[in-house]
Amino acid sequence: MELTTLDDWLDCGEAPPLRGHRVFVRADLNVPLENGRIVDDTRLRASVGTLKRLCAAGARVILASHLGRPGGEPVPALSLAPLAPALADLSGLPVAFSDDCVGAPALAASEALGEGEILLLENLRFHAGETKNDPAFAEDLAALADFYVNDAFGTAHRAHASTAGIVEHVSRAAAGDLLLSELRHLGRILEPDRPLLCILGGAKVSDKLGVLQNLAQSADVLAVGGAMAYSFLAARGESVGDSLVEENRFEAARALLDQAEAGGCELLLPTDHVVSPSADGSGESKIVHSIPAGWMGVDIGPETAKRYAEATRSARTILWNGPMGIFEVDAFAHGTERVARAVAEAEAMTVIGGGDSLAAIAQLGIGHRIDHLSTGGGASLEFVQGVTLPGVAALEKR
Ligand code: 3PG
Repeated sequence: MELTTLDDWLDCGEAPPLRGHRVFVRADLNVPLENGRIVDDTRLRASVGTLKRLCAAGARVILASHLGRPGGEPVPALSLAPLAPALADLSGLPVAFSDDCVGAPALAASEALGEGEILLLENLRFHAGETKNDPAFAEDLAALADFYVNDAFGTAHRAHASTAGIVEHVSRAAAGDLLLSELRHLGRILEPDRPLLCILGGAKVSDKLGVLQNLAQSADVLAVGGAMAYSFLAARGESVGDSLVEENRFEAARALLDQAEAGGCELLLPTDHVVSPSADGSGESKIVHSIPAGWMGVDIGPETAKRYAEATRSARTILWNGPMGIFEVDAFAHGTERVARAVAEAEAMTVIGGGDSLAAIAQLGIGHRIDHLSTGGGASLEFVQGVTLPGVAALEKR
């Protein structure tokens, strides 16, 4: 993969080529907000490195992102305005805000910007042209700057105006440091030191069927947890009581089990379970090997957690995405915690993606022990399936 990088621009031996130029940076600042308060600023922190480098080189940075899915019209609760002071605090740089991401006021604000300053634009998805990859909208965005940097790994799986179309309309385009770091680390899942262990959790088989099918071909061991494991167990004819299952995926689950066996991938499923009559933690819970009627699986049991933790010891590359149970409820979080700690303690090269797994790691304060915490949920899962991400493909074409 040949991408122009910031190093190519900044270490080219000439006078700093960016000084005074407007650089459009597409970041993924899609952070969880509650009443305008940022609940988790991981994505902001991850974006600061590229911004600081560009500003230190004298660039005038036009910063753009989406937030949520406003559906092409302004939704006040999804304004990026609260992110401007947070970014200024984290970066120590001046961050102004533009009420719209295109149009005359945005253009005037971009032109008024000084060297080493940032202009944060309002939510790109307040315009329908963003998600439609509308060429006219892409051209309007490109009019705000001379150079373009894509640092939005979390959105690189979307062919949108700010991640794909815009590249046609700028004179120079490069990958930002965060995007590159993600591609390098996740690339090691595609070409792993073996054994490769993939631990996948989450609620639905349907959400992760593609990645399960792909990893069943490439991984040496695939450990499945979370509610989606119950669809596999039920498809195999085991009793899962009232657990969440997707009957329309049983056939796909059976095919996947066969495919893994035929391909030499060891597919691990839970053998014991924490069960409860209710998912919210209000009922009693117990540990069982077979789930009786009236009870639902809410976490992997201790024996399963031990097996999955043991698998981390012999692995040389580990990918983990998705919780092992309903980890928001303390009583059902033990399996996820055990797996999180085992991944953190493993000798292997470790990569974690997905909001819930990252939240579990953050809660336990062990993020510093993981080689790479991916800022992309959907994007990281598509990438490890070998899918070419449109945001990356657009840069490659240049
Ligand atoms: C994410 O949170 O996964 C990214 O920001 C992409 O968001 P989207 O799924 O709304 O495109």
